[in-house]
Amino acid sequence: MTPLPTSMFAIVQTHHGYSGKATGPSIQNASDWLAETEMPVPEPGAGQVLIRLRASSVNPSDLHFIKGEYGQPRVKGSPAGFEGCGDVVATGAGAEGLQGQRVAFMATHSGAWAEYALTDAQMCIPLRPDISDDDGSAQIVNPMTAMAMVDLARQAGDAFIVSAATSQLGKLMCSLGRDLGLKPIAIVRRAETVAALKELGAHEVLVTSDPDMLQKFSALSKELKPRVFLDAVADQISEQIFCAMPNGARWVCYGKLSPELPKLTQTGQLIFMGKKIEGFWLTQWMTATPREDVVRVVAEVQARFADGRWKTDVSEKLTLKNVMSGLVDALQKSDGKVIITP
Ligand SMILES: NC(=O)c1ccc[n+]([C@@H]2O[C@H](COP(=O)([O-])OP(=O)(O)OC[C@H]3O[C@@H](n4cnc5c(N)ncnc54)[C@H](OP(=O)(O)O)[C@@H]3O)[C@@H](O)[C@H]2O)c1
Repeated sequence: MTPLPTSMFAIVQTHHGYSGKATGPSIQNASDWLAETEMPVPEPGAGQVLIRLRASSVNPSDLHFIKGEYGQPRVKGSPAGFEGCGDVVATGAGAEGLQGQRVAFMATHSGAWAEYALTDAQMCIPLRPDISDDDGSAQIVNPMTAMAMVDLARQAGDAFIVSAATSQLGKLMCSLGRDLGLKPIAIVRRAETVAALKELGAHEVLVTSDPDMLQKFSALSKELKPRVFLDAVADQISEQIFCAMPNGARWVCYGKLSPELPKLTQTGQLIFMGKKIEGFWLTQWMTATPREDVVRVVAEVQARFADGRWKTDVSEKLTLKNVMSGLVDALQKSDGKVIITP
């Protein structure tokens, strides 16, 4: 076995803790938040594994995080990047079973935008050989969230609403909804995406720039009675959609793509129509869901990628050495993930 190097190239965070702001997942300059460095390869402790990176997908949560706007504090000097795919090259006590395996992982101790990442063994999913590295690098955050949230929606009827439906997660939810015989109502901001989303599984697609969008939604709402709104945007249009939903509707905020903060205009609906506003966070779902259900969902996710029902659209690939110069431009492209490779 080739010995491991003692140092590695990494893209690290340059700030500590929370920023106290909510400006959304966009950045103007990578160097405002990140820096290149050469640093020691971390060593796995008990229950941990060291992973040699194959690919890491860039998610909005990575951008919220490096800006100090996510659900956990930044650690200055620690590699960025939550999600990836790679090979387990060293293990701590109790994690030996993963040695040598290709896994999808969530990095809990040292981030994925580095040649090596360090995480807990329980944050790794061994990958079937028929899953590509690109799909493996985006196998947890969005697919698991799609499975969990569509399951939540189907318990409240057959129609549900998905905002930012052109996002990777939105597309996964539209096609899963269709496969389960449900009626996903997709909300998008670009009219040119309507046909592709219908093809993918959306029952109806509404475009937020259409001046008649809310009228059209009200008519659809009366007809289809969607009771769950899976919302990644959380702006004033979201609030208006929620207000036009029927009795008992749930506005599930799971993302903050818009920097606009919505105002509640009809709080009486919460009292008299039994409507609810709530959040969803995969991290919380993973800890609250029985292990056997998580295992079943993991297997279904891999099956969907293996047989082509789901795929990861890739907009651009960047090597670690090109992240600082290329990330901002790469993120401007719609319809796909930026993938970072060693
Ligand atoms: N809570 C959780 O546990 C959890 C888990 C996974 C993901 N998420 C959230 O899910 C959302 C989607 O993630 P993803 O990885 O699928 O994203 P993605 O593939 O990177 O796509 C994001 C897309 O959202 C659209 N968008 C951006 N800003 C917008 C705005 N202000 N208004 C409307 N649409 C906007 C853009 O599409 P167009 O350019 O086509 O409009 C953009 O391409 C993110 O908010 C993420 O944080 C949450």
